[in-house]
Amino acid sequence: MIDTDPGMGSLGTDPEDGFAILYALGSPGVTVEGITLTHGNVPVSHSWSNANHLLQLAGRPDVPVHAGAHEPRDTQKRALQTSWLNQREGLTRLAPELTLPESTAVEFLTSTVADSPGEITVVAIGPLTNIAAAIEADDTFAANLDRLVIMGGAATCGGNITPAAEFNIWMDPEAADGVFGSGAPITMVGLDVCHQTSFDTSQVDALAERGSKLASFAAECSKAWIDIRGAADDGDGSLHLYDSLAVAAAIDPDLVGCRDLLVQIETGDGPAQGMTVTYTNEILRMLLVGKNPNTSVALDVEVDRFAALFAQRVTATL
Ligand code: RIB
Ligand code: CA
Repeated sequence: MIDTDPGMGSLGTDPEDGFAILYALGSPGVTVEGITLTHGNVPVSHSWSNANHLLQLAGRPDVPVHAGAHEPRDTQKRALQTSWLNQREGLTRLAPELTLPESTAVEFLTSTVADSPGEITVVAIGPLTNIAAAIEADDTFAANLDRLVIMGGAATCGGNITPAAEFNIWMDPEAADGVFGSGAPITMVGLDVCHQTSFDTSQVDALAERGSKLASFAAECSKAWIDIRGAADDGDGSLHLYDSLAVAAAIDPDLVGCRDLLVQIETGDGPAQGMTVTYTNEILRMLLVGKNPNTSVALDVEVDRFAALFAQRVTATL
């Protein structure tokens, strides 16, 4: 299952969750049980329109889609994030606007995992609000997951939304704290590895030339995002394939090299809000914190193999 905040379809928002969904759909032997939506890059109303539009264009309207969280867990404390979402409500849409239904994401997550204990991998590529709510709603959810692969955090490098924090964790630190403290079998695919991936303007141009509606839509969304953020990220005009790498690592775990580490979330609202404090020194971890590792943290990635898989499973299929 994919828990996601697809900005794809709104000008000026990250199109990358859409690529991640297409990566899963294009991977042989993978069944996408469903997609649950959250706030994040955009309000959940946009996530809903974007995900459904993408699935229509991909010829996969059969994939179940469930609306989820509108806002972070602690709305009082996270007024900044709520105002971020409100500001984005008025963004020009590339996908047609649909009416947002009732939230059913948490029920769908808990019932699907309860029906197939030990068999479901959830890939969470947005803020962790829905996942935290599922853990709270059903105390067997975390233990019954086969794996929870999270695109989020930064173990050994700085953040991307602030110097300390990665965007998905920063958006809802309380949710992230609940998830990382839950005992779920977590793989963290953070900025340490995601920043090594790229999708550049020549790849976007090649996509545009493919001529299908889906390829043109994906290229249009990517161009808008590269114009705004790409140059600022690395100065090379490319975007990072964060969410696609998380999906890829869920499907082919040996794409990334991991270490079992303790990850704790900064839930204060100071400058380190949403930081994933990761203990790489085992002696200091035991001396100072006395807790065992809770996360398999991706620290290396086979970038070329991932790029080839992305080209095969996404670009070539659009
Ligand atoms: O920090 C990267 C994450 O936030 C990704 O999930 C991407 O969608 C971005 O907006
Ligand atoms: Ca995302």
